[in-house]
Amino acid sequence: MKKAPSASRSFASDNNAGVHPKMIEAITAANEGHVVAYGADPFTDKAVKTFQKHFGRDVAVYFVFGGTGANVLGLQAVTKSYQAVICAETAHINVDECGAPEKFTGSKLLSVPTPDGKLKVELIEKFLHGVGFEHHVQPGVISISQATEMGTVYSKAELKKLAKFAHKNDMLLHVDGARISNAAVSLNATFEEITVDVGVDVLSFGGAKNGMMYGEAVVFLDKKRAADFKYIRKQGMHLPSKMRFISAQFDALLSGDLWKQNATHANKMARLLANELEQVPQVEITQKVESNGVFAVVPKKYIEELQKKYFFYVWNEEISEVRLMCSFDTTEDDIAEFIDLVKRIVK
Ligand SMILES: Cc1ncc(COP(=O)(O)O)c(C=O)c1O
Repeated sequence: MKKAPSASRSFASDNNAGVHPKMIEAITAANEGHVVAYGADPFTDKAVKTFQKHFGRDVAVYFVFGGTGANVLGLQAVTKSYQAVICAETAHINVDECGAPEKFTGSKLLSVPTPDGKLKVELIEKFLHGVGFEHHVQPGVISISQATEMGTVYSKAELKKLAKFAHKNDMLLHVDGARISNAAVSLNATFEEITVDVGVDVLSFGGAKNGMMYGEAVVFLDKKRAADFKYIRKQGMHLPSKMRFISAQFDALLSGDLWKQNATHANKMARLLANELEQVPQVEITQKVESNGVFAVVPKKYIEELQKKYFFYVWNEEISEVRLMCSFDTTEDDIAEFIDLVKRIVK
């Protein structure tokens, strides 16, 4: 991996951004006195209630350190090792979790190539072929990412269709929502509308990519599915002793509309970046810009020049496609400076 040019603000990842000042304030405010560890504290109680308000029901909410842990443990809670998890080839669980989902669930991942990061019923029907046949793994879960790793967003109708298909075939729908806030604002929808109302069963709810320092949540929309989860989380090494500092951040993010402001801003900056790049004939935008990521084919010689100043990832070497991510703190000046350099380089 190339070393990032020091001190430059980058479009590499929404994880490369710092922490929203309100999160630091929330951590500082929670840093008073002693409270009971491991989540039996008033901050966690309040944050869980805030989640429940967003989801409109008594959902089971468990805070964990990171997104890989949220995905792996959420999947572990709803799979047996002879069951398979169907996902897009580009899914984070398939390419960016170092095999942790397979190791900790024991389940096989059945991945499907998709042009835009989205699963569709037509792409996954083939996996039903071996249902009931003891020589085949049994499809147990459909896992999708919302927003997807390609910056696209499932519509409510698409989500409903997948959930209906999953349930009809005795499967569950899991959502990797590392960027669920970006998806919600993109769809102008509430969290309830894009999860509970469309039939999602288990959700990894992202915090770090939307301004938190760290912390994600596993949300079971039907509480009964969480019956064993407290043991699974502890055994899976994701029970934070000082839970209050994750809880306080989630509460600060979700009790008002900070989550919305941050995600709206990141999405808006991605749209602006894409609009500017579309003016550069040598660059081709490859995916719909529906959340906070922009994917574009940029000739290799220009990528090398740009990376002398900016750190970002080449997503697909074969077609020279790069991924540019915006975050809650991307500014219009960041984009103007980047575009200025692009234009100077391609001239
Ligand atoms: C789609 C998606 N899911 C989950 C994650 C969370 O990963 P981490 O374990 O790094 O918090 C990421 C982070 O890049 C992601 O992009």
